[in-house]
Amino acid sequence: MTLSIEMSSAPVDAEVLAVPVFADRAWGTGAEEALADIEGLEAHLDAVGFSGKKGQLTAIPGSGMTVLLVGLGDDLDAEGLRQAAGRMGRRARKSKRVATTLHSVGIDEAAELVATGFALGQYSFDEHRSKGKPSVTEALILVDGSADEVAEAERGATLAGGVVTARNLVNRPPGHKAPVAFAGWAEELAQRTGLSIEVFDEDQIESERFGGLGGVAAGAHNPARMVVLRHEPEGATKTVAFVGKGIIFDSGGLSLKPPKGMEDMKTDMAGAAAVFGAMEVIASLDVGVNVMAVMPLTENMPGGGAMRPGDVLQARNGKTIEVLNTDAEGRLVLADGLSLAAESSPDLIVDIATLTGACKVALGPRIAGLFSNDDDAAEAVESAAKRAGERVWRMPLARDYRSMIDSVVADMKNTGERWGGAITAALLLEEFVDDTPWVHLDIAGPGRSESARHYVQKGGTGFGVRTLVAVAQDLAASSD
Ligand code: BES
Ligand code: MN
Ligand code: ZN
Repeated sequence: MTLSIEMSSAPVDAEVLAVPVFADRAWGTGAEEALADIEGLEAHLDAVGFSGKKGQLTAIPGSGMTVLLVGLGDDLDAEGLRQAAGRMGRRARKSKRVATTLHSVGIDEAAELVATGFALGQYSFDEHRSKGKPSVTEALILVDGSADEVAEAERGATLAGGVVTARNLVNRPPGHKAPVAFAGWAEELAQRTGLSIEVFDEDQIESERFGGLGGVAAGAHNPARMVVLRHEPEGATKTVAFVGKGIIFDSGGLSLKPPKGMEDMKTDMAGAAAVFGAMEVIASLDVGVNVMAVMPLTENMPGGGAMRPGDVLQARNGKTIEVLNTDAEGRLVLADGLSLAAESSPDLIVDIATLTGACKVALGPRIAGLFSNDDDAAEAVESAAKRAGERVWRMPLARDYRSMIDSVVADMKNTGERWGGAITAALLLEEFVDDTPWVHLDIAGPGRSESARHYVQKGGTGFGVRTLVAVAQDLAASSD
């Protein structure tokens, strides 16, 4: 991300000036001045139906500079501002220098929200197009902004950078992100940012008893990796562990998915991608808390060595799982990731995974399911997600459903009954966290989007990066 943030007073050197407009065409900061010379303005806005409603956006060609009117409605909140900035970012992709007064709308940290929304709105995934059409925007200029607002906006752009990293990982074709390649990108991230890194190869996956990951990897030609990144700033007293599901491609294994069900399964590493993107931001902003990031990475394939329905795997913490459906693989690799995280007794574990179709059925495409063994931990993550602008909804960890995953031959089986699939998956994960306060985010829905709207594009959303960063920031603030 090469967006630079500048501040300027009038006259501004830019091709576009984006100004806020509230409901019933109530002009926000800078709008009247920008529109002063434009003849027939009201009639034009009547004709195109622009009233300043939330979601509206219209461009008025002016002398030298296009004025972009950004509708904010009458009940603007932080997320509304982020979304408006996203629409503005999308519209301004062909302009090198974009000025705005949107940071002056009287919302806390407005400059940060504007920069995040703007940068995300500009996103497109062009790695595999012969003729890409990336944004050409070089600078976002805060008109009459302060140095503090520029710093805020730079933080917002850094945050967006982590989300973009996650989106790129999710959108990348499965053949271009094998576990070994993914681990290599983690090495580069560590080099660049000063994170420390540990990578377990296929032999170490076996010798370190990562039996869930090893079991899923058995059917894949490309070898698996377990990647651990650590951020350990001086003076930090608290520790949070993030664990991300990293199924590079989920064919279902021997319990093969039908073709339609497989189409989007390159996105089954969106949890690991969110953890990766969050670590990039946490390292860049040097957030004052210890963070351990665990990413079990493998394909789920039906090769000749594949685990079979009926096989029993032993996870890192010693517990055994009977595999009855090889398509319920996420919980198998997370079992090892969570065990490893729990061994260092962090203050909090958050795992994030495109875990169950059932959760997507329950909450739809835009809301993550949140499960927890601890009310304070659940509330902490709910509040971080709210501040980050990501929607989560707490679901019950119904302990009386635990019997649904009782196995005749092992400590548990990897599938439950037909109903309550998101809950039985969460109950299996709970077996691997000891008594550590733990929150599980099922992002099967919001990990990808089927359409573009505000700052979201079709494809990988990078959902979770902002929540994980906010969780780390909150923990850092609470340990001062
Ligand atoms: N990766 C899928 C879950 C998923 C489905 C994510 C749709 C995003 C969109 C997961 O590994 C899976 O296959 N889950 C099965 C579990 C079942 C076999 C118990 C499911 O949800 O059908
Ligand atoms: Mn699966
Ligand atoms: Zn999966």
